[in-house]
Amino acid sequence: MATLFVAIFSYLMGTISGSFLIGKYHFNMDIRTKGSGNAGTTNAIRVMGIKFGFLTFLIDFLKGVLTIYLVKHTFGPSYTYLSMFFCVIGHDFPFYMHFKGGKGVATTMGSSLLIGFLPTILSILIWGIGALATRLISLWSVVLYCLLPVLYFFLGKGLFNDVQFVFLLLTCLLGIYRHKENIKRLLHGEEKKLGGGL
Ligand code: G3P
Repeated sequence: MATLFVAIFSYLMGTISGSFLIGKYHFNMDIRTKGSGNAGTTNAIRVMGIKFGFLTFLIDFLKGVLTIYLVKHTFGPSYTYLSMFFCVIGHDFPFYMHFKGGKGVATTMGSSLLIGFLPTILSILIWGIGALATRLISLWSVVLYCLLPVLYFFLGKGLFNDVQFVFLLLTCLLGIYRHKENIKRLLHGEEKKLGGGL
């Protein structure tokens, strides 16, 4: 019963979409009809500017932090990996947006923070430096999804059991899958840099 409750609660928390809500209530538009069509930070910067992009990141990141905080203190740390997975599912597939949401990057970062602090901080740092240096945000988002389980594996001994590690892997595999169009463009050298025209 606790598992079902955590899954549903985390999914619902994940559906709070920063870019969609700012777009709808501040700009009276659907972010998914603009730019790349993604309901996430990168497209929010592209379409609504750096200030609202940053606000989008904060909302999507902090809902992850808050979800894990509440689950950890109510149900215990063992439920946090399941919670992270469903929170990201909620962000990527929100029911009230016809299941067309974002790619989960900020929400994965936020929800992972209170689970594995060191692996998360390191992967955010690498993502941030790479993204700033190249402005190819999607490339570094995919790197982050690849790096996170590796860093957990080497730096997070004792933090997880096999089932929990599977939920972390599923979260990251989903993130990579959500970037499939970006990956195709990256491989063909066609991915536009942020601020470079898309
Ligand atoms: O945060 C998602 C980012 O990695 C890619 O976004 O809009 O360029 O597809 P976008």
